This record gives sequence, C-alpha cells and structure tokens, in this order.
Amino acid sequence: MSKITLLYSLVFGIFCLQSLIQGCLGEMVNRQLSENSNFKVKAVNLGGWLVTEGWIKPSLFDGIRNKDLLDGTQIQLKSRYIGKYVSAESGGGTILVANRTSASGWETFKLWRIDENTFNFRVFSNQFVGLQSNGVVAEATNPGHSETFQIIRKPDDTSRVRIQAPNGQFLQAKTQDLVTADYGGDGGWDDNNPSVFVMTILNGSLHGEYQVTNGYGPDKAPQVMMDHWNTFIVEDDFRFISENGLNAVRIPVGWWIASDPTPPKPFVGGSLAALDNAFIWAQKYGIKVIIDLHAAPGSQNGDEHSGSRDGSLEWGKTDQTIQQSVDAIEFLTARYAQNTQLYAVELINEPQSSGVALETLKDYYQAGYNAVRKHSSSAFVIMSNRLGGGVDPKELFRLASNLQLTVIDVHYYNLYSDMFNTMTPQQNIDYVNQNRSSDLSYITTSDGPLTFVGEWVAEWVARDATEGDLKNYANAQLQVYGGASFGWAYWTLKNVNNHWSLQWMIQNGYINLTN
Ligand SMILES: *[C@@H]1O[C@H](CO)[C@@H](O)[C@H](O)[C@H]1NC(C)=O
Ligand SMILES: *[C@@H]1O[C@H](CO)[C@@H](O)[C@H](O)[C@H]1NC(C)=O
Ligand SMILES: *[C@@H]1O[C@H](CO)[C@@H](O)[C@H](O)[C@H]1NC(C)=O
Repeated sequence: MSKITLLYSLVFGIFCLQSLIQGCLGEMVNRQLSENSNFKVKAVNLGGWLVTEGWIKPSLFDGIRNKDLLDGTQIQLKSRYIGKYVSAESGGGTILVANRTSASGWETFKLWRIDENTFNFRVFSNQFVGLQSNGVVAEATNPGHSETFQIIRKPDDTSRVRIQAPNGQFLQAKTQDLVTADYGGDGGWDDNNPSVFVMTILNGSLHGEYQVTNGYGPDKAPQVMMDHWNTFIVEDDFRFISENGLNAVRIPVGWWIASDPTPPKPFVGGSLAALDNAFIWAQKYGIKVIIDLHAAPGSQNGDEHSGSRDGSLEWGKTDQTIQQSVDAIEFLTARYAQNTQLYAVELINEPQSSGVALETLKDYYQAGYNAVRKHSSSAFVIMSNRLGGGVDPKELFRLASNLQLTVIDVHYYNLYSDMFNTMTPQQNIDYVNQNRSSDLSYITTSDGPLTFVGEWVAEWVARDATEGDLKNYANAQLQVYGGASFGWAYWTLKNVNNHWSLQWMIQNGYINLTN
C-alpha cells in the first residue's frame, strides 16, 4: 500500500464515520482499486467549447459586424490634419491632446463595445474618455452616457474614422494642444478636416467569450452560442476519445455557468446544458471528467481564455470575485457530485503572478477546497500553479499537503518564450527530456500533492521539422509527462491549427495512445 493509498483510506475512513453515508465504503474501495491499478489521467482538454477562444475556431466570429472592433481591441488615432497621434495626457485623468509623433501606452485606447458602432474608450490609467463640463477628458472611473461615443468609419477605407461625442458633435483636433467635441458639420473625409482620424488597430485583440457574446449582442448571441455548443463537441467525440486510449476530459468552464440560464451580460445561458450532456456522454463511454474553472470573474490573467473584457486582471482584488468563484465551484460540485464520472474539480486556471497575490490565491484555494468537500469526499481538488517569472513551483505545497486528494497543475509549452525561437527540433526534444523532466520531478514527491500536466501540446516554433521530428517530440512529452503522479491533459481536442488538435494528431498518426 503506497503512502498515498494509506492516506486515502484514512481520509475516507474518517469521512465514513463522520457522515455515515451509505456507499462511502464502496467509494473507498473504488479509490483503492484505482490507486492499486495505478490509474492515471490521460486526458484531453475540451478547449474552445464552453469558454470561447477565437484562435481555436475563428469562424465563430464571422457573423459579427465590425468584428475588428471587439471589447478590449486597442486602437490608436492619428489626426490627419495635425499629423500627430491623439494622447490621453499623463495617461489619463486630464485632457486629450494630439501632439505625439509616435504612439505607445498613452496614445492607445481600449474599446468597450456597446454595440457595433458605439464604444467607450479606456485609457492607459484605466479611466474612460468622456465629455464633461470641462471638455473632453479621461476622468471617469466607470463609463456612462457621457463616455459613450460613436465610431463612424469611411465606407471605402475603414481605417478613416470620425468620432461622434454624446453631444452629437464630432471630436476634432484643431490644434495639437487639445482635442475638443465641437465639430458640427459633415466636412467629408479630407485630410484637412480636423475631425478625421486614422485609426490603427493593434495586433493581438482578444477573442474570448466576452468578445463573442457582446460582439453578436443579446439578440443574436444566444443562438450563435447554442449552435456552437451543440456542434463543436458532440457525443461522437467521446466515442473517439474512449477508442483512442484516453480516459478523461478536462473541461474548461466560465464562472457565468453557475447562473445559467440567466448569466450576467453579455454572457448567455446554455453552457450548463452542454456540460450536462458531457457528463451523460462521459458515463456512456467511461470517460472521467475534470471540471476546470477556466474563466473567473474579473479575469485571473487578463487572457481571452479567462473571459476578460479588455485584458485587465481584476480577480482577487475584491471579495466579490473570490466569493463568486467559490460559489461557482460549489454549484458545479453539488450538481455533479453524484455522477460517477466526476473525477476532479480545478479551482481556477492559470492565475497570473503579476496580478494575483499568493496569499489571496491560497485563501481562495482553501475556500474552494472546502466548497468541493461539502459535496464530495472523493473528487480530487486541483490547484493551478501561478504563471509568471519567479514563482516557486512548490509555493502551494504547504497548503495542498495538509488537504486530501489535492493536485498541483502545471502547464508545459515549448512556446511563449524567446528561448524556444532558436531551438532546433532536437533541442526541443532534449529540453523536454532534460528540463521538463527535472521540473516535473522537482514537484512530484511522495508526501506532497499529486502532480498534473494539465496542458501541453506537440506544437513548437522549430523550423525544418520533419514528420519524424514531430512524432519524436510528441512521444518525448508523453514519456516525460507520464511521470506526473496524477496524469496529463493535451491542449486541446479540436483546433483549426493542426498540431493543437489532438484529434488531428491521432487521425494523422502523430500520436498513438492505444499501444
Ligand atoms: C502635449 O500637449 C500638452 C498640453 O499642452 C503638453 O503638456 C505636453 O507637454 C505636450 N507634449 C508634447 C510631446 O508636445
Ligand atoms: C500586425 O500583424 C501584421 C500581420 O501579421 C504584421 O504585418 C504587422 O507588422 C503587425 N503589426 C504590429 C504593430 O505588430
Ligand atoms: C536545461 O537543462 C540543461 C541540462 O540540465 C541545462 O544545462 C540547461 O541550463 C537547462 N536550460 C534551461 C533553460 O533551464
């Protein structure tokens, strides 16, 4: 009997005595059986399903009007007349000027979309541009009517815009010292019209759940999302998963699922019914389910996959964001605790160390753990390590080691760092065999939490890679991540980018888990 198995027995023993729940003994036996057979998760993520990621399925955004102007899109405005960029002086808190020859932070505005033509402009220091008694200023903390502008695009050149203020007048830069809202006429699109600006849209716009639902708006979004949920992942995918050597799915969900069918705007209801279906299919095909709170209120990392509106990270900065997250965890656990396929609940995905304090996260993990345990003694509780430089991958060990059936989730991508840009295929493989292997060994201990490589992919930036290289790279990762004591999960099942699609990788012979 391993130390871990012994621990389970003790925990369940105590739980049985305490709760006198019928069937608890059976659960204990099951757990021991799975331990004894060294059950490990070989999972695939169902990414881009219940939490939208545009790069996984770009066509989901096709029907949005002005789809290049979604929430969080960053724009810069250059006055044709002055020949200089508009800037929120001091980054915000005061006037707008048009005196910058080059553009960076203060000259960049993040859009909050009201409808396809109507927007708020958020400045560097997070205030919103508005029309106040003292003119056009970036002073408002929350946008209201005074902060609401129309962007009118030139029909045959959509980078030319005029911006209508709430007083009906257009913004103009008559001089470089001040932007005002007092251009009344329709002066056409001439370069010497001081109300014409050239709008540059910065690369890297967010394409997440907020963008897609708010982009379609309340009339169209419910149907579009329903169609997506009903077609992107279907029962047959669970058959495919079960027939190809996988035994679990990790399903990213958003916090709004807990208030289905009437989630806060712009999110729309229906993802809960889709998750219910996943459990039915999982049961039918003997697949275990890991629920993963991938998008937390306010966003825990500013990425599109956290449901962020504009890239800000607000999670953990108010008690409300924590409480809503705990509530979502409790709601989901309570709903599926009696389902035999519920295997684990991941409390939050990829909190970012630059914005989420360790103490805040630990408090949340404790509260989230308690919420799971209120309803399930047997579900594993997964805690994602923080992303970011300088994080000790064991920073959650003290907390996790004192709790039962806990798992630390780490994500390994040979991407997102310049270091990989110059690596050859073989160097990538060596990196997996040496560095990832030692990273994983460091956290895989006999007395600590279990370890889970909850995201990895056989994608890389290596040039001149052959088919054989790619197979070797995938196999090296399978070998090394097979050493994680809880298991691993490929990111993701389906993706228009082939290497990111485990379905494609299996169907094309790059990955074979059945032998
Ligand atoms: C832009 O205009 C503002 C307001 O007149 C002034 O304070 C600032 O120094 C100017 N900046 C540049 C780069 O000219
Ligand atoms: C944006 O992306 C396009 C296409 O990939 C590229 O040509 C352009 O240089 C990028 N612009 C910036 C500012 O990075
Ligand atoms: C990877 O591991 C090798 C061998 O242990 C080591 O020399 C190298 O510095 C490591 N690379 C990084 C980026 O940590």
